[in-house]
Amino acid sequence: MRPESAVAERTGRHCLLLPSNRMGLYLALRHWCTPGMRLLMSPISADEILFLVLAAGLRPVIAPVSPRDGNIDASRVDLSSVDAVLTTNLYGLPDDVAAFSGKILIEDVAHALETTLDRPLGTYGQAGVFSLSKHPGAGSGGVLAVDSAADLQSLTRARDLLLEPGAMRTELVSVASSMARQAALRLDLVRPALKLMRMLGMEEEREGYRIGLQSPELAEAMRLAPALQPFDPWVRADLHTYRARRGWVARWYQSRRLAKVPGERSRRLAGVASLAELPTVADGVRSHVHQPLFRVPLLVHDRDTAIAALERRGVATGYLYDPPYDDYAPGFTEPSPDPEPARWWASNVLPVDPLYAHRALPVLQDLMPARSDRPESRIPS
Ligand SMILES: Cc1ncc(COP(=O)(O)O)c(C=O)c1O
Repeated sequence: MRPESAVAERTGRHCLLLPSNRMGLYLALRHWCTPGMRLLMSPISADEILFLVLAAGLRPVIAPVSPRDGNIDASRVDLSSVDAVLTTNLYGLPDDVAAFSGKILIEDVAHALETTLDRPLGTYGQAGVFSLSKHPGAGSGGVLAVDSAADLQSLTRARDLLLEPGAMRTELVSVASSMARQAALRLDLVRPALKLMRMLGMEEEREGYRIGLQSPELAEAMRLAPALQPFDPWVRADLHTYRARRGWVARWYQSRRLAKVPGERSRRLAGVASLAELPTVADGVRSHVHQPLFRVPLLVHDRDTAIAALERRGVATGYLYDPPYDDYAPGFTEPSPDPEPARWWASNVLPVDPLYAHRALPVLQDLMPARSDRPESRIPS
C-alpha cells in the first residue's frame, strides 16, 4: 500500500505524500495562515521547525512548556493573543488539542504516528503532518493529512511548485544508508556504526545540539519571507533532500517500513511500560503508558554521562532539542513568559527508544532524577 494510503486509512483524511514532514508543515502554514500572523508554538522541537515558521512569514510566539511532558502548557497560554497554534506532540506525548479549538491548528505529528486520544492525533487540526523517518524509520518522507479534497488539491499544486528534481543515485544512497542504520540497530552494531560515521565525517555539524544560527544571514533571509528557498540552509538541517522529488525506490522503501509499524506495536508498548516504572520518567508518560510512544522521555541528572554510558552499550541518543528556541534564536521569536521549565526540560531530558528499552535499562536503572530548582512550578502534584 502506498504510504499516503496507509496514513489515509489510519486518519480517514485526504493525504499527500511528501519528501519530508518539514515540507508538509511549511505547506500547511502557508495554506492556512497569512504572513504576519502570530503562531503559538513550543520552544522544544527540531531546529528546522522554527526556521520553516519564519520562512512562512509568521511570528513565532513561544509558549510556556509543561514540565510534565515538554509540550505547550495550555493552561498558562493567552490564546486571544495568537492567530494559530502549532503543536509538537513531543516524543509522541499528546498536546492538549482540545484547548486550542477555535484557532487555526496545525499538528506536527512527526513523533505521534501511533498516538490516539478519542481519535488519532493528526485529525484534530486543519492539518496533521506525519514523518516517515520516525516510527517507520524510513530515512525520509512525510505525509500531510487534511479534511477536504479541495484543500488537498491546492496543497498538491503548492507541493509540486516547491519540489526540486531528485536524483536516482542520491535516492539509492539514502535508502541504502537507512537500511544499514536499521540493520546496525537490529544486530546491536550501533557503536561501530557510529564510530564509522564519525570517521567518515557523516555527522551533521552542530553547535551543541543545535545547528549554527548564523544570525546576520538569517536576518537577510527574513527580508524575503514568505519564501522557502532563502531558508534552505536552515530548514534542510539534517535532511538536505527535504524537498527533492522521490522516485519509486524511496516510495517502495517507505511503504515497506510503514507496513512494519503495526507489527512492532506490542514491543513498543512493552518498552513504554518498563521505562514508565523508572523513577526518572517524565510525569506525562505515566498518564500515557498505553500509547506506543516514539521515545520515552526521562529527566535525569548528568545527562551527558548517561548518553556516553548508553553509547557504550550500543544505544544512540537523538532528538535532543536544547536550548529552547527563545534562548537559541533570541530576536527571532517572541520569548516565553516563563522560560525556566523549558530550559529545565531541554537540558535534562533523555529520550529513550522503547523498542530497545532492554538494552538501555541496565544504564537507566542507576540514573538519578534531574534536580529541580523551582519544584513548585516544575513538578506538579
Ligand atoms: C518534532 C519534529 N518535527 C518534525 C521533524 C521533521 O521531520 P522530517 O525529517 O520528516 O522533515 C522532526 C525531525 O526530527 C521532529 O523531531
